[in-house]
Amino acid sequence: MTIDQIREQFPILKETVYGKPLVYLDNGATTQKPLAVLEACDEVYRHKNANIHRGVHHLSNVCTELYEQARRKVARHINAARPEEVVFTRATTEAINLVAYAWGDTFINEGDEVVVTEMEHHSNIVPWQLLCKRRKAVLKVIGITDEGLLRDTDADLEGLITSRTKLVSVAHVSNVLGTVNDVRRLADKAHAVGAVMLVDAAQSFPHMRVDVQELGCDFLALSGHKAYGPLGAGALYGRYELLERMQPWQGGGEMIDKVSFDGTTFAEPPLKFEAGTPDYVAAIGLGAAVDFMHEVGMDYIEQHEQALIARTIEGLRAIGGVRLVGEAQRRSGVVSFLVGSVHPYDTGMILDKMGIAVRTGHHCAQPLVDRLGISGTVRASLGVYNTEDEVDALLNGVERVKKMFGVK
Ligand code: ALA
Repeated sequence: MTIDQIREQFPILKETVYGKPLVYLDNGATTQKPLAVLEACDEVYRHKNANIHRGVHHLSNVCTELYEQARRKVARHINAARPEEVVFTRATTEAINLVAYAWGDTFINEGDEVVVTEMEHHSNIVPWQLLCKRRKAVLKVIGITDEGLLRDTDADLEGLITSRTKLVSVAHVSNVLGTVNDVRRLADKAHAVGAVMLVDAAQSFPHMRVDVQELGCDFLALSGHKAYGPLGAGALYGRYELLERMQPWQGGGEMIDKVSFDGTTFAEPPLKFEAGTPDYVAAIGLGAAVDFMHEVGMDYIEQHEQALIARTIEGLRAIGGVRLVGEAQRRSGVVSFLVGSVHPYDTGMILDKMGIAVRTGHHCAQPLVDRLGISGTVRASLGVYNTEDEVDALLNGVERVKKMFGVK
């Protein structure tokens, strides 16, 4: 597909904002949805809708098959060993909370340690704080450099990943800095001390090939809505033998084997972790989004976005008076910056008036912005449908902000 053909797939890109063409650079928050995804969901609601895994009737069987097909698509896309290693969740946050409860409450005991990093999204901090409080465990934090890289040398990790560590949980890509972390190295370190490794792939899954076996992780959390899928469906990948040993975290229909007042036995994974009616339409839409990314090609997506990131960074540097926040060589998805001492919110408002959608603030990563001594950033985050012209529109917008605020 050419970029024009790709853009044709996204009706919303033809919208105008204040009479200006929409320049959507907030893909890190959520992406727009292609026709194939809209149509897949519409088709289910119009012609196929019935609750899954329950009925003997035709439509229930059709929807069940589409739901399980979506699970197989996600599993193939991330190279899981088997589809049963994919649990559908609402999105990344729910996937991480699932592990914190279902794995954490089974395996974490007093004095055990959980390790995260200073560049995590709140969704990869708060569930572990809650777990550590419940289980009297200790949360430890891998620091970062001023450039936004993990301090992950052997010397840095000494005393952090130890025989007391039970879990290491790290973002594959920072949602603020764009840094791509060497999660394989951390997974090897975790495994060397008998700990398990969780990868938060919310900001990598839409942008690059994510292979759970290559990453060497035990769990991986992802969101569909940040990867061209509908809201309401994400996934947790878990190694099957771990999923088998974990207790359920929510009780209800479909997650059971047999229920009686004397005691209940549970279904096998993944259904053990999918209590109640899931958003099966969203999951089917996520399957269509995976097909879309496959059709465009993850290599194409990565190359296209890398070129746009390079253009954005080069352009921002050339403007002068602009501070890049996050200077990793290996980066993906997002570019964060500050224009002189202009508050990120003011920059975002002015860009908005030009039809340019960016996110401003702490991006749900307060410990990270505190560490960098700033209150937040302006974040441009890219998707497969963005163009060089849109990057140039952003750069023009930043020039305008600079002039309006007299930034030198
Ligand atoms: N986690 C999303 C972001 O970083 C919402 O914007």
